[in-house]
Amino acid sequence: MAKQTAVFTCQNCDYQSPKWMGQCPQCGKWNTMVEEVKERRSSRRVIGKIEPINLSQIKTRKIEKRPTKIRELDRVLGEGLVAGQVILFAGEPGIGKSTLLTQLAINISTNEKKPVVYGCGEESPNQVGLRVERLTDKKTNNIVFVPDTDVDQIVNWLEQNPPPLLLIIDSVQTLTTQDLSGVAGSVGQVRESAQRLITWAKKSQVPLLLVGHVTKQGNLAGPKVLEHAVDTVIYFEGERSHDLRILRTIKNRFGPTDEIGVFQMTGKGLLEIDEKELAKKVGKSGSKAGSCLTVTAEGNRMMVTEVQALVTQSFTPFPKRVITGLSKNRTEMLIAVVQKQLGVPLYKYDVFINVAGGVKITEPAADLAICAAIYSSFKNKPLPPKSSFVGEVSLLGEINTVPQPEKRAKQAKGVGLSSLFGAKNIPTLKDLKGQI
Ligand code: TYD
Ligand code: MG
Repeated sequence: MAKQTAVFTCQNCDYQSPKWMGQCPQCGKWNTMVEEVKERRSSRRVIGKIEPINLSQIKTRKIEKRPTKIRELDRVLGEGLVAGQVILFAGEPGIGKSTLLTQLAINISTNEKKPVVYGCGEESPNQVGLRVERLTDKKTNNIVFVPDTDVDQIVNWLEQNPPPLLLIIDSVQTLTTQDLSGVAGSVGQVRESAQRLITWAKKSQVPLLLVGHVTKQGNLAGPKVLEHAVDTVIYFEGERSHDLRILRTIKNRFGPTDEIGVFQMTGKGLLEIDEKELAKKVGKSGSKAGSCLTVTAEGNRMMVTEVQALVTQSFTPFPKRVITGLSKNRTEMLIAVVQKQLGVPLYKYDVFINVAGGVKITEPAADLAICAAIYSSFKNKPLPPKSSFVGEVSLLGEINTVPQPEKRAKQAKGVGLSSLFGAKNIPTLKDLKGQI
């Protein structure tokens, strides 16, 4: 067998050293040395034959998917889990990752012969057991807990037992291999441990879910290095102060990437939320100055959301721009467009913009609603009752149409919004003046 040693490799220029260094002596970059496993081969490698396959020889098989029995999760995965699929499940600490995965373990293992293996390095089996009791009234005895954090021991145990239905590792940052000297959670340990589990999952065709923590500052050191190595990357987002949680796929080799799953955190775990309930939760207001409703598309799903703006006189040389739930750059651009097109002296005003309910909007279709909310707050007058605003605003103040207008209109009507404003009835931002 090849002997394994650890080396420190510069992630920038590939320079290798047996010792860790703060600065790479070759390229001069700081903090780029990451510990990796290197195999020292004892004898010359035997070159084997490779056997290329012609396209015509490949039998395209339909990929079989196993539903997770959680509708919103199936929606983002594209109908369910694929054998051997490796999913990175990332999110901030405390957002509800363990809760959702415990619910998944309960749901998917019910009435099945094979168990779900839950690697709970972060919590004790007792803690997870208590959570299982909190989340279900049914008797569940098809979940096996592995409290170990040594990845080689886990893999060894998995290899000696029949393949489970699903393997959940909560979290990848707790895993270590003794082949490396770095602490749990260091880039080298995370990458190497995950790689060993991925190799096992692909060989034994068991779906693998790796939990990864990300920090509020967007520091993804742990999970980010795994994104290329896994099939699917799912982010679990939301504000801890709100109860709405959103699942978003960033990468998916077996399904869509533009779908979202919506949940509400309750005392009895995560509850699935459909379009109607979502509209009720986030689209309540809309009749006050500074509030504007819009319909945004997330894959096939339409969401009625409320944009709130507060425009107040500023007493500082640099007026404040506080933006939550929207792209900062784009919203600042829209503030400039409103100033120019509607003649509003926003340079003298602080502008606070927020999306109600802790929702994040990424679509430019909400541009018009943002402008309308700002203008409404500035004028201190509400927008027309039961109205929604949908449209992309250009730098020149033109309102452009957005994809899927019929579906958006249907969703807005479904929650009782009768007047829809968009490119058709207000072709330029100046036309907003007639509405307030
Ligand atoms: P958790 O799933 O442990 O978060 P993560 O694994 O992402 O770090 O859950 C975090 C929060 O959710 C915790 O503060 C308690 C709360 N919670 C509920 O509100 N209801 C529940 O049923 C459960 C299990 C947790
Ligand atoms: Mg957790």
